[in-house]
Amino acid sequence: IVEVQIRFRVNGEMGSDHEYADVNWDELGFRLMPTDYMYMMKCSQHDSFSEGQLTQYGNIELNASAGVLNYGQGLFEGLKAYRKINGGGLALFRPEENARRMQMGAERMCMPSPTVDQFLHAVKHTVLANKRWVPPPGKGSLYVRPLLLGSGPVLGLAPATEYLFLVYAAPVGNYFKEGLAPINLIIEEDTCRATPGGTGGVKTITNYAPVLKAQQEAKKKGFTDVLFLDSVNKIYLEEASSSNIFLVKNNLILTPKTGGTILEGITRASIIEIAGDLGHQVEERPVSVDDLVDADEVFCTGTAVVVAPVSSITYKDRRYSYNCGEHAVSRRLYKSLIAIQLGHVQDKKGWTI
Ligand code: COI
Repeated sequence: IVEVQIRFRVNGEMGSDHEYADVNWDELGFRLMPTDYMYMMKCSQHDSFSEGQLTQYGNIELNASAGVLNYGQGLFEGLKAYRKINGGGLALFRPEENARRMQMGAERMCMPSPTVDQFLHAVKHTVLANKRWVPPPGKGSLYVRPLLLGSGPVLGLAPATEYLFLVYAAPVGNYFKEGLAPINLIIEEDTCRATPGGTGGVKTITNYAPVLKAQQEAKKKGFTDVLFLDSVNKIYLEEASSSNIFLVKNNLILTPKTGGTILEGITRASIIEIAGDLGHQVEERPVSVDDLVDADEVFCTGTAVVVAPVSSITYKDRRYSYNCGEHAVSRRLYKSLIAIQLGHVQDKKGWTI
């Protein structure tokens, strides 16, 4: 009933199902293109979220002493809505996984969180209200960004007194400027992304600004992105600044085991499952820099990144090169994943809504 009501309302306000925003869909990158609506829902510290609403996309007002501004009490999520081929409607990919991850993160960051149903409701409303911004099939997706913020004022270090759950969206194309071309990584040796007992495994906003310096240095040297090592032994691969990492050796696919320092990527989990279905042996275990030496392929996964083949990794001034050709395993995994997301194949796993 809710879906029908949303469709009715949005169609009434913004025309037919096929009306598009005035965008050059061939030039989408991963940049903020403001859309029409965002969704907001508030609750106080010892309460639960109850009801939210759509409002015009734009600025929000925050107290100068808001918990998120002063102490970084905030989480974000990222998921995508796709326009399916042949007028098949819009699809969200595994949004309930994002809802659950936000709940886990909220627990770690001492915040109340929306229920899975509230999260899904907010995401669906935001996508349908902005549906003219969902790119045509094959041209990109509508990236949906849920935020959970400590919005209430606080001065001494403590959880904020009020929380804001907000969802906005923007049409996006490929994440890297290389497009779908293979990327080049450098292993970061000076700074670490996460430490045991820290928050590397949850999607707190405080995990992201600290990688900017290493990322900028890498870009200055001509690399696409950085790959972080564990903070204890400095020999185990963890993740790139915004994606998980995989290695391929013959039929074996390896990815670092998550254990609190690595983000439990939803694309990561999906690729592990798809790779198994395609007959690969998949191992989640510590993966060291030595494993890079004889790997055939390396690739990164993430919601924004999707599946990005890695052409080279530079470590201690040595450059290791990998297969990224048409027949690479990463290409096959990419195609299998987007076939489900875009509705090219039947979604037997029930991953799309
Ligand atoms: C995503 O892949 O959705 C992320 O959250 C990465 C972000 C830094 C763009």
